[in-house]
Amino acid sequence: MVVGFLFALLACLDLFTTGIVYASTASQAYTPQAGPCPANFTLVRQAGDPATGQGLSPQEQSYIDARRSEVLPGAFRQYLDNVILTGIPLPYYVYSILGDFNTSALPTIAIAVSGGGYRAAMFGAGVMNAFDGRNESAAEAGTGGLLQATSYMAGLSGGSWLVYSLAQANFPTIEELVLGPPNPEITGYGGWTTSLGTLTLDPSANGTLNYEYMNQTTAAITGKYDAGYPVSIVDILAQTLGRHFLNGTTAANFFDNSTLHGAGVMYSDLVDVPTFSAHEQPFTIVVADGWSKYPYGPDGGEALGSVVPPSNVIYEFNAYEMGSYDPQLSAFAPMTYLGTTNASVCVTGFEQASFVMASSSDYNAMFNSSPAAINATAGQWISLVNNSLPQPGVQLDVALWPNPFQGRGNGSFTEVNETLLSLVDGGTDGQGLPLQPFLVKARNVDVLIAVDVNAEVNNYATGDSFTQSGTRAALFPGIYSFPPIPASNATFVAQNLTLHPTFFGCGTPETPLIVYIANGGPPKGQVAVTNASTDTYTESLIQGILAQTFDMTTQGFPADPTAARDPEWAACLACAIADRERERLGIARQGVCETCMARYCWS
Ligand SMILES: *[C@@H]1O[C@H](CO)[C@@H](O)[C@H](O)[C@H]1NC(C)=O
Ligand SMILES: *[C@@H]1O[C@H](CO)[C@@H](O)[C@H](O)[C@H]1NC(C)=O
Ligand SMILES: *[C@@H]1O[C@H](CO)[C@@H](O)[C@H](O)[C@H]1NC(C)=O
Ligand SMILES: *[C@@H]1O[C@H](CO)[C@@H](O)[C@H](O)[C@H]1NC(C)=O
Ligand SMILES: *[C@@H]1O[C@H](CO)[C@@H](O)[C@H](O)[C@H]1NC(C)=O
Ligand SMILES: *[C@@H]1O[C@H](CO)[C@@H](O)[C@H](O)[C@H]1NC(C)=O
Ligand SMILES: *[C@@H]1O[C@H](CO)[C@@H](O)[C@H](O)[C@H]1NC(C)=O
Ligand SMILES: *[C@@H]1O[C@H](CO)[C@@H](O)[C@H](O)[C@H]1NC(C)=O
Ligand SMILES: *[C@@H]1O[C@H](CO)[C@@H](O)[C@H](O)[C@H]1NC(C)=O
Ligand SMILES: *[C@@H]1O[C@H](CO)[C@@H](O)[C@H](O)[C@H]1NC(C)=O
Ligand SMILES: *[C@@H]1O[C@H](CO)[C@@H](O)[C@H](O)[C@H]1NC(C)=O
Ligand SMILES: *[C@@H]1O[C@H](CO)[C@@H](O)[C@H](O)[C@H]1NC(C)=O
Repeated sequence: MVVGFLFALLACLDLFTTGIVYASTASQAYTPQAGPCPANFTLVRQAGDPATGQGLSPQEQSYIDARRSEVLPGAFRQYLDNVILTGIPLPYYVYSILGDFNTSALPTIAIAVSGGGYRAAMFGAGVMNAFDGRNESAAEAGTGGLLQATSYMAGLSGGSWLVYSLAQANFPTIEELVLGPPNPEITGYGGWTTSLGTLTLDPSANGTLNYEYMNQTTAAITGKYDAGYPVSIVDILAQTLGRHFLNGTTAANFFDNSTLHGAGVMYSDLVDVPTFSAHEQPFTIVVADGWSKYPYGPDGGEALGSVVPPSNVIYEFNAYEMGSYDPQLSAFAPMTYLGTTNASVCVTGFEQASFVMASSSDYNAMFNSSPAAINATAGQWISLVNNSLPQPGVQLDVALWPNPFQGRGNGSFTEVNETLLSLVDGGTDGQGLPLQPFLVKARNVDVLIAVDVNAEVNNYATGDSFTQSGTRAALFPGIYSFPPIPASNATFVAQNLTLHPTFFGCGTPETPLIVYIANGGPPKGQVAVTNASTDTYTESLIQGILAQTFDMTTQGFPADPTAARDPEWAACLACAIADRERERLGIARQGVCETCMARYCWS
């Protein structure tokens, strides 16, 4: 307490005397610290045999259990009330499953938001808004409250910006999350500062200001470099993301170099956020891909797209640990000590929240492709690092994490000998949706809401990336089970499956039931808005996107093809939410559940 106070006081004095000393504090805050390990330190948690049973970390298990007993009963009751008010009579079993009759039988729901930059973050936010019981229109539509009843949320790339910023900002309403609360100077959170671009080093029209901005981002990673850790363009990306998705930056102080701009916010700081401590937010997971340095593939990884083989390890970050349930590894390292590679020297301060989001959204990675190809997409970023912080031999287009898993794994773990893990955008293996964490049997996910905002044609999703989730799951038979889905996106498009919510897995109780919601096209009669392709957004465009996404999430799939909305959609979604427990209880689908699920389920 006293030390913290003195530090704050010194920092304030610095602020008022020399900008430069305080600016170096951003660099200090971003610099990992090494020290002795705690006496009982364990570097790696073995998650168990993927075939016979894996275990969650005790902390995650206790978060989920506490949320289930303290928060979910009330949340489900509220959600059920909203569904009931839409006036469609539900079969009795839906009332009893979602009502508070048996807490341990309440469904486990997860939401997965795909990549796609700001577009994905915005669309995902719009879907969450339509599920948020705090939004009156969502409550009236009978979908509001589902977000509060959800146990998990995962994101990759642009989706990671949404889920992590929502969690770290203390689970505000979506409007406040995106546009900022009315009093950012008091709350410390300033919204997504969308007028200033995320993936650009030129956020303003003023070249001098942009130069200073680049200089600030580089200055902030100098301490990490000086401490001997390799840095890459992903550390620069982290500084830009910190200005948009973490506490501490507003449009007014965006270019001000006396502010930390998210440096020093650790991913694991989530545990102290009030709604997290009270188990009032879904448990957040961010996904990134492992990339092995060994040659693979006929093209040597020279093209963007699916250049990471789908068999590579998918890593997840959560408030407590980082690692993978994939069978090649099935191990985790404690989040607060990431950067540590043995049990004698413990590193803290490596797990910068901005760096985790940047690792998940390193879409620029070009791997071992030609220097010209790298330069074409990331030249400006790479020269920035090279000019100020030269590191001969260090690969600059991947996120570099000291590897806690050296010597681990089942023999097919490709990074077994690496001193550094090279992580890249969670979508680089073709898995545009972060579904893998919810195929893990230990999580017992009943309903998986897949929000697909991939840009396949005209910045709309066609189901292509979703089909690749099925393909990957099939690589791990007996470990991951995935419901039947169309073999190609041609079927998704021909059957309009990206234009309305579709359920997958209605006949496969051993898999999660997937509620697939895609950004596939505007609702009937509306002008397309949600496929906007830009790195900067005005408030009116944001409102337009949230409004259109609201309609796309609440319109359903009317039985009458001429109708704009399905009056049974809210009821049918509730049927899907209750469906796995219904099956466990051995009850047949009845009433509206029987008829509407026949319409929403793909078979
Ligand atoms: C180490 O021991 C302390 C004190 O008993 C305990 O609070 C802490 O959780 C332990 N840490 C680990 C990683 O087991
Ligand atoms: C409550 O649900 C759990 C999990 O489905 C089940 O094991 C238990 O028997 C149920 N309890 C009652 C009283 O129905
Ligand atoms: C551009 O930014 C620089 C540095 O902040 C500032 O001094 C200058 O006045 C700005 N120029 C314009 C035209 O706003
Ligand atoms: C921060 O701004 C001050 C005042 O404009 C300037 O003197 C200093 O060089 C800047 N520091 C960095 C790292 O950009
Ligand atoms: C920031 O810019 C100044 C020149 O204005 C330069 O001397 C300094 O090296 C730059 N710092 C970084 C970290 O790029
Ligand atoms: C961010 O700010 C909010 C208030 O707006 C606060 O509740 C939350 O704890 C802060 N998050 C972190 C990681 O400090
Ligand atoms: C432990 O890791 C540190 C780097 O964090 C290294 O300097 C040290 O030599 C390692 N110690 C052992 C015993 O391997
Ligand atoms: C690399 O990219 C930078 C920035 O886009 C550009 O200025 C430079 O000319 C490029 N260099 C080569 C060799 O293509
Ligand atoms: C790791 O190193 C061992 C020992 O040198 C070697 O046998 C093995 O093939 C290496 N594994 C990989 C994936 O490179
Ligand atoms: C399927 O996806 C691919 C790659 O994303 C795309 O090029 C193709 O046009 C899509 N097909 C349809 C029918 O939309
Ligand atoms: C798909 O939607 C279009 C336009 O809304 C409609 O004409 C067509 O019949 C639909 N196709 C199917 C298979 O439902
Ligand atoms: C609910 O969401 C809609 C759609 O974005 C928005 O227009 C409305 O202002 C929101 N209402 C509240 C109370 O946040």
